[in-house]
Amino acid sequence: MEMKEFNKINNKISALGVGTWELSNDREENIKCIKYAVDRGITFIDTAEMYNTEDVVGDAIKGYERAKLFIASKVWPTHFRYDDVIKACEASLKKLGTGYLDLYQLHWPNKSVQIKETMRAMEKLKENGKIKNIGISNFSLGEMKEAQSVMAKYELASNQVEYSIVTRDIEKTGVFEYCLENHIAVIAYSPLSHGKIFKNPELLNDINKIANKYSKSAAQIAISWLLHRENTFPIPKASNTEHMKENIEAEGIKLNKEDLTFLSGLESKYYTEPIANQHKKNEDKVNSYNFKEEKIN
Ligand SMILES: NC(=O)c1ccc[n+]([C@@H]2O[C@H](COP(=O)([O-])OP(=O)(O)OC[C@H]3O[C@@H](n4cnc5c(N)ncnc54)[C@H](OP(=O)(O)O)[C@@H]3O)[C@@H](O)[C@H]2O)c1
Repeated sequence: MEMKEFNKINNKISALGVGTWELSNDREENIKCIKYAVDRGITFIDTAEMYNTEDVVGDAIKGYERAKLFIASKVWPTHFRYDDVIKACEASLKKLGTGYLDLYQLHWPNKSVQIKETMRAMEKLKENGKIKNIGISNFSLGEMKEAQSVMAKYELASNQVEYSIVTRDIEKTGVFEYCLENHIAVIAYSPLSHGKIFKNPELLNDINKIANKYSKSAAQIAISWLLHRENTFPIPKASNTEHMKENIEAEGIKLNKEDLTFLSGLESKYYTEPIANQHKKNEDKVNSYNFKEEKIN
């Protein structure tokens, strides 16, 4: 399994991670699937308090050497006040059955809480050893710079953003470049465009032109395209071992320059708007509705 430098502070982690949003209802299969990935060298598992899968990840990682894993979770924006961030983290640690998180991320920006207050709590968690790295998710370039600027002691380790063969907005907004220049890892979520790449026959046909050359599947080629990007960690989600096996076997494919160029050209033909854009368009609604403060008991 290819290991990649996560950022300037950390050791290497597996370049390919495991996503756990919307796992199937088959808890045992989900656990089996995560274990399957870890047994094959995946060290990076991504979850979030919002996914309700932290306990599944917790059960899956029991029995593995904790230090060899890189467990990431996220705090939902309704919990961005100082005390709530601390409590949300404690709750995540409990569900995951671990004493610390390797990465704790702000799931979405939330303008109704001062970022300084939220970051103060994140820094406190790091200071206390509850988290090893501070990350963000769905933050624009400006939001990312602001989050960094209000931190007193630490630096941002990652930004988790939508990034795939058909959604390359981060390359145009400056997020990708800024992350690269500042050693902030890019965690590529929805690397299979949330399954949408399988639903467009023309796109699938185009990806398969390359896949057939390498005797690989479309999923593997889409993941491999991301693995070829510098500083990028794709986290596909698979709810069964067959998909997981296929995705893991994306690792190690060496796409030649010409094929990479062909794949890079697909976005202009099949552009898929990132879900974050839709949220941003509804920002007022989001901030006054979805992200209303919630207390944790
Ligand atoms: N930070 C955020 O706001 C945010 C937002 C979205 C996602 N994420 C993270 O990113 C992870 C991945 O993104 P995602 O879940 O949106 O979508 P994704 O990984 O792009 O796609 C998942 C879909 O592709 C299917 N699939 C997976 N492997 C396949 C294969 N080899 N062949 C055919 N189909 C395959 C899955 O089916 P099965 O389930 O049946 O295997 C599922 O329907 C999430 O789980 C989550 O951890 C983060």
